[in-house]
Amino acid sequence: VTAEKGGFDHFMLKEIYEQPKAYRDTMRGRIDESGSKVIFPELNLTEEKIRSINNIHIVACGTAYHAGLVGGTAIERLVRIPVAFDVASEYRYRSPLITPETLVIVVSQSGETADTLAALREAHANGAHVLAITNVVGSSIARDADDVIATLAGPEIAVASTKAYTSQLIAFYLFGLYLAEVRGTQTAEEISHIIAAMQSLPEQVEAMLENTDAIKAYAEHISNHNNLFFIGRGVDYAVALEGSLKLKEISYIHSEAYAAGELKHGTLALIEDGIPVIALATQEALLEKTVSNIKEVKARGAEVMALSHEEHVSSLLKSVDQAFAIPKTLPLLTPALSVVPLQLLAYYASLARGNDVDKPRNLAKSVTVE
Ligand code: AGP
Repeated sequence: VTAEKGGFDHFMLKEIYEQPKAYRDTMRGRIDESGSKVIFPELNLTEEKIRSINNIHIVACGTAYHAGLVGGTAIERLVRIPVAFDVASEYRYRSPLITPETLVIVVSQSGETADTLAALREAHANGAHVLAITNVVGSSIARDADDVIATLAGPEIAVASTKAYTSQLIAFYLFGLYLAEVRGTQTAEEISHIIAAMQSLPEQVEAMLENTDAIKAYAEHISNHNNLFFIGRGVDYAVALEGSLKLKEISYIHSEAYAAGELKHGTLALIEDGIPVIALATQEALLEKTVSNIKEVKARGAEVMALSHEEHVSSLLKSVDQAFAIPKTLPLLTPALSVVPLQLLAYYASLARGNDVDKPRNLAKSVTVE
């Protein structure tokens, strides 16, 4: 059994460490030799069709939905097409406005999630083109979709999704760049610049995984708490949602993720002495605003851990109790790095609580009922 886990104690830890490879494999063959263009030979989507798209729906469940939040934000920024996000179990019931000019992107590691498959059928029934981002090419979702972008993360065994999520981010970034090129919304220089930054991500993850002692110690501390909060703005908020889900799912610690600016509209009432707040503060343009939200919770007694870049750590330490630095990349790409310490946090907190990390209670790896 340890052999199948490649010497790791759990599949989840093994899969966290496989992320640099998953990033490389998902990018391989999809960037041209000059590094200036994304290519997707596998897609049926024609350039003409790409030019006709006037809105995009991203539909998925759980962690795949969280990847969609980041991916859709990237597409909207890079391509300026309006993007709507739905959890798959809600999509059909809101009578979404789907037309043949709608591109529906369904995201699913397993490709077998019942609600996501039903969303795909709803999209088809209304004439939309459906693109699936999935890790299982022979899955029901891959079979039914008009186009498939395979994430090459390799089999994911742990119930808590890690490398599938980050590979979905890579797939979205690539697809966003591809659309941007076809629609002419980014210059060739801008595209090359983003591609170069993406190509550095695997090494940056490797660097983060080299020394995990501090996050492990923090996880052990957190494991003594029953409630905590994650806050962030922009894509940091999307990553906060994912960090919170991961922690709940395997450590059974209750947590909530909040858009940092939304706290004072109610949830701030829950902040009391000693409650841990994990603040994602990686987005330079939003840093000042996030810091003011950090001060709001600090003033109510919260114990704050911030996740940011090295250059901000010393100034952040004036307002927080602890800060972790993640390597520097472009703001839109940061989720591919900032989620890694949160995956480790959930893993080590679960371990400290003596839980079954790979098979958390009440959950199944693939949810085939609606
Ligand atoms: C992730 O840690 C969860 N186990 C869960 O949210 C999962 O992402 C969700 O059920 C969707 O699964 P899928 O990607 O296989 O469709």
